[in-house]
Amino acid sequence: MPDTEKTGTRTKVIAITGTSSGIGRATALALAAAGATVVLGARRSDRVEQLAGEIRERGGRAVALATDVRRRDDLIRMVDTAVTEFGRLDVLVNNAGIGPISPLDDLRVDEWDDMIDVNLRGVLHGIAAALPVFRHQGFGHLVTVASTAAYRTVPGQAVYSATKTAVRTVCEGLRQEVGETVRVTVVSPGFVHTDFVNAVADPHARAALVASRDAMALDPAAIADAIAYAVTQPDQVDINEIVVRPTAQR
Ligand SMILES: NC(=O)c1ccc[n+]([C@@H]2O[C@H](COP(=O)([O-])OP(=O)(O)OC[C@H]3O[C@@H](n4cnc5c(N)ncnc54)[C@H](OP(=O)(O)O)[C@@H]3O)[C@@H](O)[C@H]2O)c1
Repeated sequence: MPDTEKTGTRTKVIAITGTSSGIGRATALALAAAGATVVLGARRSDRVEQLAGEIRERGGRAVALATDVRRRDDLIRMVDTAVTEFGRLDVLVNNAGIGPISPLDDLRVDEWDDMIDVNLRGVLHGIAAALPVFRHQGFGHLVTVASTAAYRTVPGQAVYSATKTAVRTVCEGLRQEVGETVRVTVVSPGFVHTDFVNAVADPHARAALVASRDAMALDPAAIADAIAYAVTQPDQVDINEIVVRPTAQR
C-alpha cells in the first residue's frame, strides 16, 4: 500500500500550475496548510517565489519554478523537481489557463491560438510529464481545472469553451485508460473572483464581466476546497468531476 493512503494531504507531494494568482494560489495555500508539500509554477516567477516563501514562513514545504505550460520541458522540470527533491509526485494540478474571450466575428485568431496552447496543450503537457512517473510509482492523481464552459457554451466563449470541453474529454479518456492506480479529477468552476477577466480585450465586454464578477463570483478558496476534497479521498475513491458555481449563476 503506498503511504499516500495513510494521512490525506499530510504526506502528499503536489505540483500546481498557474499559482501566481487566483485559483492556483488559493489551492497552493489550502493544500500547504493541510500539510502537503507543494511545487509551484507560473510564468511570473517573482509572485510564485513570494508564495513559496509565505508557505515556508508558515512552516510548510514549498518550492517555486518559473513554468510556462506551453513548453513541455517546463512541465517535465516541475515533475522532476517533485521527484528529485521530495521523492515522488502524488498529484499534479493542471490549473493554468487563460480566457481572452470574444465573439468569433472579431477574428482574434492569435487569442484563439493562445487559449488552445495554454488551456489544452498545457494540460496535455502536464499529462505527458506526470503519467510516466505515476506509472512508475504505481500511484498518482491528475487534477485538471476546466470550467462550467465545458458543459455550457454561451456567445463569445466558443473557443474558450472548446478548449475546456476538450480537456474534460481528454481527462475522461485518461480515466478510462489508466486503470486503478491513477486517479483523474476534473474540477469545473463557474464564475470565480480572480484576474481571469483582465485578458478580455474589448473594454466594454471586460467592464461587463468585471461588474458581473463583482456581483456574484466565488472566492477562489471555494475551488481550492473542491480540489482538496478530491485529493484527500482514500486512494480507492476517484472523484471524477466536480462542478462549483455561485448560487446566482445560471
Ligand atoms: N475565474 C473564473 O471565473 C474561472 C472560471 C472557470 C474556470 N477557470 C479556470 O481556472 C483556472 C485558473 O484561472 P484563475 O481564475 O485563477 O485566473 P488567473 O487569476 O488569471 O490565474 C491564471 C493563472 O494561470 C497562469 N498562466 C497563464 N498562462 C500560463 C502559461 N502559459 N504557463 C503557466 N501558467 C500560466 C497565470 O500565471 P502567469 O501569468 O504568471 O503565468 C496565473 O497564475 C484557469 O484554467 C481558468 O480557465 C476560471
